[in-house]
Amino acid sequence: MEPFELSAGDLLLRPWRNEDAPAVWAVLQDPEIRLWNGAGSASFEDVRVMLARRMDWSAGDHASFAVCVRGELAGSVSLHSIDPVQGDAEIGYWTAPAARGRGVAVAAVVAVWRWAFGALPVDRIELLHAVENTGSARVAAKAGFTREGRLRRSFRYGDGMKHDELLWSRLADDPPPAG
Ligand SMILES: CC(C)(COP(=O)(O)OP(=O)(O)OC[C@H]1O[C@@H](n2cnc3c(N)ncnc32)[C@H](O)[C@@H]1OP(=O)(O)O)[C@@H](O)C(=O)NCCC(=O)NCCS
Repeated sequence: MEPFELSAGDLLLRPWRNEDAPAVWAVLQDPEIRLWNGAGSASFEDVRVMLARRMDWSAGDHASFAVCVRGELAGSVSLHSIDPVQGDAEIGYWTAPAARGRGVAVAAVVAVWRWAFGALPVDRIELLHAVENTGSARVAAKAGFTREGRLRRSFRYGDGMKHDELLWSRLADDPPPAG
């Protein structure tokens, strides 16, 4: 898969660039992102390595975007674990602290599932978050995902503890999200 851009209202979802490293490193100092996106103690070099992986779409197993508003980095959204045999994938995201509360995460997630269901051999996208992450649950619901259940002690998050997670999914033929 070749990297490309997606537009959604004010948002531009574009491929990551090496020059994003300082902005990403700064955002990853946010305690909420370190906790819920497993950024851990990412050093600047770790950020460069992570960006290099996200810039390389050649394996076809992910599509990773920087989410920008008027040229500024506002967030991240990634469709990953793309499995053409099973026809499924998983979505992950964060929003920079300064850009939160303006619908960035919901709009980015919707833009990616709309593209994915039209372009990829995928008819199910999963979204998982720790049960304590109520903001992410709200994003999932508003982006048109259906809550399927609770996975017990299923993922080790940035605090080093395994948390129960909520599993949500969106199917290609689900109705459009309310609103
Ligand atoms: C969770 C997160 C992605 C939300 O990003 P955002 O761009 O602010 O979300 P949106 O503006 O699209 O908000 C969507 C809804 O979630 C709600 N919401 C956002 N953060 C919330 C929070 N911390 N608690 C409760 N609700 C929250 C918003 O109010 C909105 O609902 P509303 O329209 O009914 O008011 C962002 O806070 C974040 O990056 N958190 C840290 C990392 C993280 O949790 N990543 C996801 C891992 S699964």
